[in-house]
Amino acid sequence: MKKLLSCFTGLVAAGTLAASPAWADDIDTKVESLLQQMTLEEKVGQLNQFTDFWDVTGPAPTGEEQEVKYELIKKGLIGSMLNAVGTEDVKTLQTFAVENSRLGIPMIFGYDVIHGHKTIFPLPLAETASWDLDMMEQTARVAAVEASAQGLNWTFAPMIDVGRDPRWGRVMEGSGEDPYLGGKVAIARVNGLQGDDLGAADTIAATLKHFAGYGFGEAGKDYNRADVGTVTLFNTILPPFKAAIDEANPRTVMNAFNTVNGIPATGDEYLQRDILKGEWGFDGFVISDWGSIEEMVDHGFAEDEREAARLAIKAGSDMDMESYAYLENLESLVESGEVDVALIDDAVRRILRVKHELGLFEDPYRYIDPEREETLLMSDQHLDVALKMAERSVVLLKNDGALLPLQAGERVALIGALAADKDSPLGNWRAQGEESSAVSLVEGFAAAGLNFSFSNGVDVEVGDANFASEVVVNTDDRTGMDQAIETARSADKVVLVLGEDALQSGEGRSRADIGFPGLQQELLEKIVAVNPNVVLVVMSGRPLVLTWADENVPTIVQAWHLGHQSGHALTNVLTGAYNPSGKLPMTFPRSVGQLPIYYDYLNTGRPGPRKEVFWQHYIDEDNAPLYPFGHGLSYTDFKYDRLRVRQADEGFEVSVRVRNTGKAAGEEVVQLYIRDHVASVSRPVRQLKGFEKVSLDPRQAQRVTFQLTSEELGFYNGRGEFVVEPGDFDVFVGGSSAATLSDTFTLKR
Ligand code: BGC
Repeated sequence: MKKLLSCFTGLVAAGTLAASPAWADDIDTKVESLLQQMTLEEKVGQLNQFTDFWDVTGPAPTGEEQEVKYELIKKGLIGSMLNAVGTEDVKTLQTFAVENSRLGIPMIFGYDVIHGHKTIFPLPLAETASWDLDMMEQTARVAAVEASAQGLNWTFAPMIDVGRDPRWGRVMEGSGEDPYLGGKVAIARVNGLQGDDLGAADTIAATLKHFAGYGFGEAGKDYNRADVGTVTLFNTILPPFKAAIDEANPRTVMNAFNTVNGIPATGDEYLQRDILKGEWGFDGFVISDWGSIEEMVDHGFAEDEREAARLAIKAGSDMDMESYAYLENLESLVESGEVDVALIDDAVRRILRVKHELGLFEDPYRYIDPEREETLLMSDQHLDVALKMAERSVVLLKNDGALLPLQAGERVALIGALAADKDSPLGNWRAQGEESSAVSLVEGFAAAGLNFSFSNGVDVEVGDANFASEVVVNTDDRTGMDQAIETARSADKVVLVLGEDALQSGEGRSRADIGFPGLQQELLEKIVAVNPNVVLVVMSGRPLVLTWADENVPTIVQAWHLGHQSGHALTNVLTGAYNPSGKLPMTFPRSVGQLPIYYDYLNTGRPGPRKEVFWQHYIDEDNAPLYPFGHGLSYTDFKYDRLRVRQADEGFEVSVRVRNTGKAAGEEVVQLYIRDHVASVSRPVRQLKGFEKVSLDPRQAQRVTFQLTSEELGFYNGRGEFVVEPGDFDVFVGGSSAATLSDTFTLKR
C-alpha cells in the first residue's frame, strides 16, 4: 500500500526564491516609469537581439545587413547584441544605443563564454568529471572576470541539458547524464558567473540552456525531436534547471531548437509560461536560441514568420535571437489585436529589470574598461586555475600492472598527432581562446624533462576544419605510421594519444560511429602489436567506444579537451605529480548499439539474467557498460566500510568510513546512491543523492556523512506532481555507481 506522505502542487518553488530586496522594488518602479514612456515600436525594440560580425553559429549577416543593424540600434530597436567582443567594439555599439536612440536605453552584450573566455578551461563535461564544485565555481568566476573585461555582461552558459547519448556532439558542453550532479554543477557555475553582486563590473548574467529536452534528441542527432514522457521530463530533464533557479537565481534562460513531444520548445507555453515563469517563479527573461523562432516554420508549427512571432511571444520567449521575427511582426500583431500588448510589456519589463540589475542604467559603460582588458586576460593567476582544473578533470579508466605513473628515466615513445596539437585541447566553443595557444603534451613532457621521442603517427583530420565546413577525416594517409611503430618498438613505454580534434564534437557534430576517427584505430592496433606497454590517452569531447582498447591496452586515461594547460596538466597526471581523481560524468558504452546508456535505468519486468532468451538484454552485446558512471581510478586504493544509516531529524543520516589503503596521497569522490524499492511509478535501480570529494594521505581514514532529507527521497509522478512515498530504500556508497557496500532503511509514513 502506498500513501502520499506529501504532495506539492506540481513544481512549486517551495519558498526558495528569496524575497525581493529593497533595490528590487526600486528597480520595479524605475522599470515601470520607463515602460510608460516607451512607444510600442520601442518596446518591441527591446526584444530583439542581433549578432555582430563574427562567431556566428547560424547564417552570417552580410556587411550591408550589418549597416542596417547599426541604424536599428540608433532607433532603439535592438535590445541586445551577441558576438560583439572587446571594449572598443562594445563601446561603439553601446554609444549608438545610448546617445542616438530617443530613450537612450543601453544594450546588453552576450557571448558564448562556455568554458573560459580568453583563458580556456577544460570542456564543461571534463570539468564535471572533477566533481569539484568549488573549482567549477572558480573557473566560471575567472571566465566572468575576463569576459566582463572585454565589455560583455552576459553569457549563454551554463548548458545544463542532461545528455545520455554520446553520439550527440554537444555532450561536451554539458555536465553529463545525471540530473542531481547536473543541478549542483549548474548552481556552482551560475554562482561563479554572477557572483554576489550582479551590478559589479566583473560579474555577468548567466543563462541556463536549453529549455528543454535538447539533450534528448532522438538517435543522438543534433536538433532532433525529443519525445519524453512526464516522468522523464520532470525527474530527469527539468531538475537541473529547477535546482539552479531555486538556488542560484540565474537571470536568463535560453529555450531550445528541438520539439518536445511535438511542440517546438521555443513555442511551448506549458514549459515556459506554466512551469518556468509560473510554477517556478522565474523572474528573469527567456532568450530564444539562434533563429529558433523562425525555425518554427520549418518545424511545421507556424504558417509563416509572423505566426511564429505570435506563437513565440505567447509562449513566453522574451527575446528573439537573430530571427527578425519580432522586429518585423510584433508591432503589427499588437495593432491587429492578435497579440495582447500585456505580453510585450511583460517581456520588456523582464529585460529592463536585468539591465538594471547589471547596473547598465547607472552606467552603460560600466563593463568598458580598457585597463581591465589590458591587464586581466590570461593572467598567471587565471592560468594557475586552468592548470588545477585540468588536472582534476582527467579520469584514469584503467591501470593494469601499474604502468602509470611513469617512472624517472624510462624511455617513453610519445605518439599521436593530438600529442603535438596545440589547438585541439582548446575544444569547441573556445570563446576568445586563440587558435593553437594550448600547451601540447609534447611541450608538457619537454618542460618536465622527460626522456621521450615523439612521433606523429597519423593525422586525425585533414583540410579545413572550421565552423563553415565539415571536418575532413584522414582515411588514407599512412605516411607517418611506420615511423611511429619504430618509435614504439624501442621504448620502455608508449604514451599513445588518440581521439577527436576540437571540432569533432560540439554543436552540429553528431557522430554515428564514436570510435577513433580515421586511421587511429589501425595505428593503435599496430602499436600494441610491437609494444604491449601502452598508456592510451584519449582526447575527446564525448565518451568514445573504447572496447577494443579496454581488452588490449593495460592503461587508459580519459583526457577530454583540457584547455590551455592541457600539456602540463596531463604530464602531471602521467608522472604522478598529480594523483588523478576524476570520475566519469557519463557512462562509457561498449558499443553504439547500447545507446542511449545511463546508470539510472529502470529495472523492467524481466531484469534477468535468465537462461532462456526472454529477458531484457542483447543477444550480441552485454548490458553492462564498459565503464560505469562515477568510475575513475587513482594511483592509490580506497576502501569503504562501516556504513551506518540512522534516522535523523529531517530524514536519514548515512555515513561511511573511507580509508586510503595504498601508498600515495589521493582524492576520492565518495558517492551516495539510493534505490526506492516500490513506488507509484517505477523508480531507477540507482540514483545519485550525494557526493563528497575527500583528500586522504596513505593509511588515513575519514568518516563521510550525508544528510538525506525525506524530500530528497521524493519524485515526480506520472501527473507531474512531486510526491514522497513511504517504504523501503537501499542505499549504496562507494567510488562509482557500481558501488556494492549497501544497507536498507525504511521511510515511515
Ligand atoms: C546555440 C546556443 C548559442 C547560440 C549563440 C546556438 O546555435 O545552440 O547554445 O548560445 O547559438 O551562439
